[in-house]
Amino acid sequence: MTRFRRLFAEHLAPLVGSDVDSVAEQIGAPPKPDMGQLAFPCFPLAKERRSAPPKIAAELAEQLAGTEIPGIVAIKAVGPYVNAFVDGAAAARAVLPEVLGRGAAFGTHDGGGGAQVPVDFSSPNIAKPFGIHHLRSTVIGHALVGLLTASGYRPVGINHLGDWGTQFGQLLAIWEKKGDEERLTAEGIDYLLALYIEFNELKKDDPSLQDVARDRFKKLEDGDPECRRLWKLFRDVSLAEFERVYALLGIRFDDTRGESFYEDRMGAVLDELESKGLLKESDDATVVDLEEYELGVALVKKRDGSTLYLTRDLAAAQFRWDSYDFPRALYVVGAAQALHFAQMKKVLELMGRTWHDRVDHIPFGMMRFADRKMATRSGDIILLEDVLTEAIALAKETIVAGANEKGRENPDDLDELAHAIGVGAVVFNDLKNRRTRDVVFDWKQVLSFEGETGPYLQYTAARIGSMVAKAERAMSTVAVGTDEARTLAEGIDAAQLAGQDELRLVLAIDGLRESLDRAVTAAEPSLVADKLLEIAARFSTLYSNRDWKVLSDDEATTDARLALARATRQALVNGLDWLGIPVPARM
Ligand code: ARG
Repeated sequence: MTRFRRLFAEHLAPLVGSDVDSVAEQIGAPPKPDMGQLAFPCFPLAKERRSAPPKIAAELAEQLAGTEIPGIVAIKAVGPYVNAFVDGAAAARAVLPEVLGRGAAFGTHDGGGGAQVPVDFSSPNIAKPFGIHHLRSTVIGHALVGLLTASGYRPVGINHLGDWGTQFGQLLAIWEKKGDEERLTAEGIDYLLALYIEFNELKKDDPSLQDVARDRFKKLEDGDPECRRLWKLFRDVSLAEFERVYALLGIRFDDTRGESFYEDRMGAVLDELESKGLLKESDDATVVDLEEYELGVALVKKRDGSTLYLTRDLAAAQFRWDSYDFPRALYVVGAAQALHFAQMKKVLELMGRTWHDRVDHIPFGMMRFADRKMATRSGDIILLEDVLTEAIALAKETIVAGANEKGRENPDDLDELAHAIGVGAVVFNDLKNRRTRDVVFDWKQVLSFEGETGPYLQYTAARIGSMVAKAERAMSTVAVGTDEARTLAEGIDAAQLAGQDELRLVLAIDGLRESLDRAVTAAEPSLVADKLLEIAARFSTLYSNRDWKVLSDDEATTDARLALARATRQALVNGLDWLGIPVPARM
């Protein structure tokens, strides 16, 4: 409820001797609509004023009693709170023209000023299957890219592939014994995984294999042509498989640069660490000692000279800074790597990088399956591609069953529809909870058309679309996002929307922009997801009321409700779009 909250805060701020933003931050919603729409708590003032909160509330309400605040019809003390009552007609008159006039741009703004923000996300390891554990980084990162774009930033989506490291030495070592290029072409990553497993089996009887692996990685780092050729082959095969998943999700990266890219940039990092006296030799590695910061020791080089994950990340951070001059750089990586990123930031700080505190690790919890009965191609690993294809197949079954039940033909765009619903379901399930919480994946719940799900939101938006299409009014046919739509919305009889349920819906729609800003600040897509669920629920309250029909006998009422319905749909479509969830036109 941005605009009215702001207005209220502007009037309160001078009275409480505080700035508008911090007052606005404290204003919440009262528990019941008959208590108004905005509530300012007076507890925090009790101490400095040496007075009881209800008394302070009464005084503030008294002081504001005579003030005209557009759209706010009354200000009253309610216990320890000062509450404001927003006028439904005024709210509709302020909000609906903006939504219909701006259309797809509603809620967005250019506050980011075009600044570039690197978002490191997905970043799977090549020659390893794209497991479900990478889903969260992929989906959260993609949503953050959408949210940043909506806020006027120019995010740079970076896929920091794990394409370097000692594991490639292992793969090269086993390849010498068993490698078969034909099988690699035919089976792809599955074959590479089988080779890994075999390497570890053979190593049990022949520990010297580990030395061979170490040597082969060294050769790779030193540029041996055959090692390079094979490594590139493994990389290409892996990328081709990852691309299939990204295509299903509709994701593209601005930059697919793996760890290998930083190979010739690590020398400079190590030299600088050395010259600044930050390096220390330990038993089998060169480290930066971070014990005094309670961050352990950070390994930057092994005894055999090979570099490590952290060294590559230090070089990558520098490269990103040089390339993008970022106000913020995000790393969407599981909570398990918290120490790694804390070490990285600390080392950057010790190197004197003033921008170290712009580097932000965005951690998230784990993904668990409620029922493990899922066919997988590679043993115990649950593949993301399988989960997505399964979701699409299940969505298709549901659509076909639904059409059957109603004695209808299958929709022409059955496949497209199933894709949007299946993918939307998986993505929303991941984004709807605070990201640091673990996600439980329960097929039935994920794909349900009811409750807090992607299909429910898609369905609400689609249903409004079909309903609007039935009305033969200028308000139903005018294209949103045009001045014409804005003018039509300005002309509605807003008094038709003065009821409490309409007001709550209008305020929820108005709150989309604020949810975007909070989501960006906290790198927390669930804040937008929450707002979308609220908008849909508020609309459903109206829609399920028998006495409330969009298409009524009265033209003024119909136009006002059409405007509200279309604004609802537009808010849902915009928010889902930022989150990376497609919205089918019909369902
Ligand atoms: N490849 C790593 C993994 O799968 C994630 C990389 C994250 N990004 C980074 N810059 N470290 O665990």
